[in-house]
Amino acid sequence: MRVLVTGGAGYVGSHTVLALVEAGHTPVIADNFSNSSRGVLERLELVAGVPIECHEAELTDVEATERLFRVEPIDAVIHCAGLKAVGESVSAPLEYYRNNLVSTLTVADVMARHGVRRLVFSSSATVYGASHASPLGEDSWPLESSNPYGQTKVIIERMLTDIAAAHVGWKVALLRYFNPVGAHSSGLIGEDPRGIPNNLMPFIAQVAVGRRDRLTVHGDDYETIDGTGERDYIHVVDLAAGHVAALDHLDAMTTDVRAFNLGTGASTSVLQLVRAYERASGRTVPYTVGPRRDGDLAVAYADPSRARAELGWMATRSIDEMCADSWRWQQNNPSGMSSRLAN
Ligand code: WQD
Repeated sequence: MRVLVTGGAGYVGSHTVLALVEAGHTPVIADNFSNSSRGVLERLELVAGVPIECHEAELTDVEATERLFRVEPIDAVIHCAGLKAVGESVSAPLEYYRNNLVSTLTVADVMARHGVRRLVFSSSATVYGASHASPLGEDSWPLESSNPYGQTKVIIERMLTDIAAAHVGWKVALLRYFNPVGAHSSGLIGEDPRGIPNNLMPFIAQVAVGRRDRLTVHGDDYETIDGTGERDYIHVVDLAAGHVAALDHLDAMTTDVRAFNLGTGASTSVLQLVRAYERASGRTVPYTVGPRRDGDLAVAYADPSRARAELGWMATRSIDEMCADSWRWQQNNPSGMSSRLAN
């Protein structure tokens, strides 16, 4: 299938593009490069071994989005584009609601006009909020996030559910990511956050490579194995494979819309991840313990059984592999995507 991957130059999007090529699909990237680098395209083509079509496009713009569907027929959409920093969403809710909701409505509207009925949506475990205990199951109810970013995912899941119910033949998979980490084994693409990383793994990686002095551990007084927060970290290559499994499953879905947790079902604490990264990199990761971060949960991990039963997909890569692949990417690209490619 010819698959439009919105946000395809981003962290999850770019790994999904590679997984699509490996599965025999033809990915088409649409990205506004607001949180990604144009340099990723050359790297993707190096790994994929084939040219990859890429269009710069602002998906809140109907005409720009229309053009993506006019070039050649699109068979399905994997919608990864969106603003995704939890803390930033609290200080800029208007931008988050506008960008994430309007871009999704625009994509869905243009899909409907062009008779495209297959959609895989990048949702998040943040939709479960703080009111459900782990392991988190897809039927947890109600869904309510503690931050505007997560609320955009809750609202979009509901929008797409209503749209699919009103349009005959639509099939929509809602993929609730847990904590994506790691990088493609080539070391050519990986997580490349702009500015100070919000998330744990890229922060650890930047300390290990010497870009930052030390990690601040956000609290060590939680009711967890060692007092620090526990999360379900999933290798981004496993996550990308989950997108292809969902895409290939859409036609067999017996409902218009189906949510799937993409997680491992295991949890790892902050300090456990620090130690794993030190083993993988051979570097020391200095840290200090600071106060808890507002909105943080003590523990969050998936019940991944539905994706295994219905998509035939499960995460296979270990925490040590996640750290080793992340370190290879970070060591080869100390300045991220702007690092010069080795000849
Ligand atoms: C993990 C753990 C922190 C940074 C967020 C989003 C979620 C998804 C993944 C998009 C927590 C601790 C972190 C640091 C730390 N993104 N930590 N020092 O908050 O579980 O999930 O990213 O979909 O939607 O909510 O991930 O990596 O920020 O935090 O101690 O410098 O690491 O307290 O326990 P989180 P995270």
